[in-house]
Amino acid sequence: MAINIYRKIKRNITEDGLIVSSSGFLVNTMVGKIDFSRPLRILEIGSGKGPFTREIIRRMSTESVLDVCEIKSEYNPWIERLMIANPHKQVTLHNGCVTELLNTPETYDVIVSSLPLKNFERMKDQNAFLNRLIEGFKFALKEGGIYLQYQYFRSNKADIERVFGKEMDEIDFVPLNILPAFVYSMTK
Ligand SMILES: C[S@@+](CC[C@H](N)C(=O)[O-])C[C@H]1O[C@@H](n2cnc3c(N)ncnc32)[C@H](O)[C@@H]1O
Repeated sequence: MAINIYRKIKRNITEDGLIVSSSGFLVNTMVGKIDFSRPLRILEIGSGKGPFTREIIRRMSTESVLDVCEIKSEYNPWIERLMIANPHKQVTLHNGCVTELLNTPETYDVIVSSLPLKNFERMKDQNAFLNRLIEGFKFALKEGGIYLQYQYFRSNKADIERVFGKEMDEIDFVPLNILPAFVYSMTK
């Protein structure tokens, strides 16, 4: 029993980059930075079981469009349940790597990312994937659009600032989360 729990926690950390789903405090801090008063095209990346998806769907207008991207199909049922419960909201689930959605310039007003960027540093390609990813975010954001990302330990802040060519607009600290997290806001 204890071994199974330990294995699950270890798998969550190495594969997903987290121990449990993000807290309501983290979700509200991050989603609270989005101006929902106008129609938006939003990309949410790494939805997992959908703590951010639920809140974005709740706040978005019926004219707004949400693309949810999650590489693991085992999380599909959580997102599909939210889509079924909100048929009047324009939500699409993409099952795959987010790089497939970052090929069209100036597409999104908002990118909300839960991707564990730090984990990508361990890949054999010496950060090529990490750089391609951040460059893809900048490419796919509209001028004036906002990229929101949470990370633990302020990691990858310098990578994001280098690619966007400017300092982070804001960094918020959310202690009430496992683990305490930093929320990065970067406008293009
Ligand atoms: C840290 S978890 C976040 C889950 C949830 N959003 C939360 O905050 O509780 C990161 C998620 O990103 C997904 N992910 C990892 N690499 C991805 C990729 N290249 N494209 C899309 N999703 C990815 C993982 O499967 C995982 O569900």
